[in-house]
Amino acid sequence: MPESVVDPVDTVTEVPVAVVGAGPAGLMLAHRLGRAGVDAVALDLRTREEIATTHRAGILEADAARDLVETGVGDRILREGHEHGGTELRFGGRAHRIDFRELVGASVWLYPQTEVFTDLADARERDGGTVHFGVRGTEVLDVGTDRPRVRFTAADGTRHELRARYVVGADGSRSTCRGLVPEALRTRYGTEYPFAWFGVLVRAPASAPELVYAHSEHGFALISRRTESVQRMYFQCDPDERTEDWPDGRIWETLQARVAGEDGFRLVEGPVLERSVLRFRSFVQEPMRWGSLLLAGDAAHTVPPTGARGLNLALHDVKVLAGVLLRALGAEGEAALADYQPLALRRIWRAQHFSSWMTRLLHTAPDASPFELRRQLGELDGVVGTRAGRAYLAEQYTGWPASA
Ligand code: DHB
Repeated sequence: MPESVVDPVDTVTEVPVAVVGAGPAGLMLAHRLGRAGVDAVALDLRTREEIATTHRAGILEADAARDLVETGVGDRILREGHEHGGTELRFGGRAHRIDFRELVGASVWLYPQTEVFTDLADARERDGGTVHFGVRGTEVLDVGTDRPRVRFTAADGTRHELRARYVVGADGSRSTCRGLVPEALRTRYGTEYPFAWFGVLVRAPASAPELVYAHSEHGFALISRRTESVQRMYFQCDPDERTEDWPDGRIWETLQARVAGEDGFRLVEGPVLERSVLRFRSFVQEPMRWGSLLLAGDAAHTVPPTGARGLNLALHDVKVLAGVLLRALGAEGEAALADYQPLALRRIWRAQHFSSWMTRLLHTAPDASPFELRRQLGELDGVVGTRAGRAYLAEQYTGWPASA
C-alpha cells in the first residue's frame, strides 16, 4: 500500500535543506543558505511568541554581532545593544576589572538572545523564507539515506512532508534529532553540576556599568543588564530550589550578600518581574553528522551558562555548516560534509573547557572543604592578579577567530 494512503499529507515540498528547530541557530543557518540562493525550510515545536519570550543569555562576541550586521539581519544590535570593553570579577569583597580591549583588543555586545531571535525571524519573513512555528508530531525519517524526509502537522492542523537532501537538527538542548544517530555509533560526553542558577528580571536602574561576576563563600552571583530600567541577575542555587519559596525580599538579601564587600558596593533594588531556576550541564555528542543528518548548536552540545558561550558557539556551528552545505549541494557533493565536525568541534571543546572552568572558578560547591575554598581564592587571585591570567580570561570570553 503506498504510504500516502497510510498517512496522507496535504503538501509535499522538495527542498535542499530542512531545518528542525527555529531558534537562533536554525534561523541563522536558513538565513545564510537563503542568501546564497539555497532554500531551507525551518520548523519548531514552539510558537514564535514562546521563543521570543524565553529569556536566555545576553552576551554576543563582537564577531557574531558583526556577522549579524554583515549578513543583513539588521543593525538593531548596533543601535540597541551595548558594547562592553571589559567585565568585573568580585571576590573577597573586592572588585577586579578585566579589560578586554587593553588585554586582547576585543569587546563583546550585550544584546539578549531573544532580540537576536526576533531579528532573525523578521529577516526570514522579509526575505520570503519559510518558517513553521508551533508545529506538532514532527517525524524525521530516512536520515540514513540520501532522501531524508521531515513530516509534521502545522499550527493550522494541516499535514506536510518535506523531501530534503539534508536535514539539520538545530532543535536545542532537548534535541530529538540527536537520538537519530544510531546508539552504537555515537558517544555522549558530559558532566553535571551540583548547583543551578536562580534567574531574575528586576525593574531597577543598573547597578554597575559592566557585568559583575561575583564569587563569595555563599556562592556565585551574576549582575547583568537588559534595558535602562530592567536588569537581569542570577545567583547560584540548589537545582531543586522552587521559585515560590523566593519572595522579593529573600532574593535581594541573597544577591546583596553575594556582592557585598569592603568597598560598600550595593545593588539598586526594585520589584522582581520574573523568576526561574535554570539547571545546566556540560554535554557533547559525537559525531555531529550521520548520513544526511547534521547537528548544530545545543542539539550537539550544551555548556553551563557562566561565560555566555552557548549562543556564540551555536552561531559559529552554523557559520561553518552553511559553508559546508553549500559545497555539498554544489559540485563537490557529499564529501564536503567531512569538514564540518573537525572545524566545529575544535571551538566546541575549547568552549566546553572555558565554560566548565569559569563555572568551577566562581561557584561554591555545596560540599567544598576549607582547603578547596582557600585553593579557589588562590586561583582567582592568580587570574586577576597576573596579566597572563587576565588575558586568558579575556581571550576565552571574547571568543576565538572563526574556523570558516
Ligand atoms: C548573561 C548570561 C550569562 O550566562 C552570562 O555569562 C552573561 C550574561 C545575561 O543573561 O545577560
